[in-house]
Amino acid sequence: MPLVNTKEMFQKAYEGGYAIGAFNVNNMEIVQGITEAAKDLKAPLILQVSSGARKYANHTYLVKLVEAALAETDLPIALHLDHGDTFELCKSCIDGGFTSVMIDGSHHSYEENVKVTRQVVEYAHARGVVVEAELGRLAGVEDDVNVSEADSSYTNPDQVYDFVTRTHCDSLAIAIGTSHGAYKFKPGTKPQLRFDILEEVEKRLPGFPIVLHGASSVIPEYVEMINTYGGNMPDAIGVPEDMLRQAARMAVCKINIDSDLRLAMTATIRKYFAENPGHFDPRQYLGPARTAIKGMVAHKIKNVLGCDGKA
Ligand code: G3H
Ligand code: 13P
Ligand code: ZN
Repeated sequence: MPLVNTKEMFQKAYEGGYAIGAFNVNNMEIVQGITEAAKDLKAPLILQVSSGARKYANHTYLVKLVEAALAETDLPIALHLDHGDTFELCKSCIDGGFTSVMIDGSHHSYEENVKVTRQVVEYAHARGVVVEAELGRLAGVEDDVNVSEADSSYTNPDQVYDFVTRTHCDSLAIAIGTSHGAYKFKPGTKPQLRFDILEEVEKRLPGFPIVLHGASSVIPEYVEMINTYGGNMPDAIGVPEDMLRQAARMAVCKINIDSDLRLAMTATIRKYFAENPGHFDPRQYLGPARTAIKGMVAHKIKNVLGCDGKA
């Protein structure tokens, strides 16, 4: 099966009350771990590439790795640009074989966001590529995405209908309290998401696929492992999995996960070196890291996303 866009995946997910996992990929072991889990569980899959990943691993290497994942499975797989910030970056990914792009105009004014999103949509749709846009701003820090809490803002449900009908985007990322990275909620506070905003968005855009960024659960077992084996992560708190499951039953069709992959990989490698200080063959520590990613992704597919058996 060739790479697919997300149109049919999202329609089925919306109707079926589940979500598709969108996992960030940066190297071969990450692609393999995610794909093996999806293959075992017959889950549709979105493999996504940030501009940082593209700088790190090179566009062609990443496309070829995803093509290899496709050749090894019979799954519907979409290759998606995560957080494209300019028309030129989106165009380059569309021209280079991606089937889905995100234009993240959330740092612009509303009208500028409409304008750049519309421009990307025109170029993408003419080539069979779908477009995710964003309204509202998530807080959080990653390589190329850095928004302070003061600059973050929830999505205004009164804007979504106007935005979607003017841009013709295919899905919309909204801000309801999730954030990027491992430190999503203040220690000692109870994690909360604004499900009321999600409900309002759903009412204004019936049947329209919504995307949740910053949706790692920051699995405590991995944070603990990192700290046991020489790391020093302060209280890291993610989005509780039951909340993600609830969002997946609602209009959320795509759930983005990157930090949990990083934590699974890093925790496993730290443990490996603590137990095998003399080893230096990369296959010996990257192999277990890949296995850990596979286990973590299988858990998400079955217990959080609910997309097992949906391929
Ligand atoms: O939301 C951002 C993704 O987690 C990608 O992060 O820019 O560090 O690759 P990155
Ligand atoms: P996390 O940092 O919660 O994994 O979010 C990833 C993400 O939103 C990628 O776009
Ligand atoms: Zn994101």
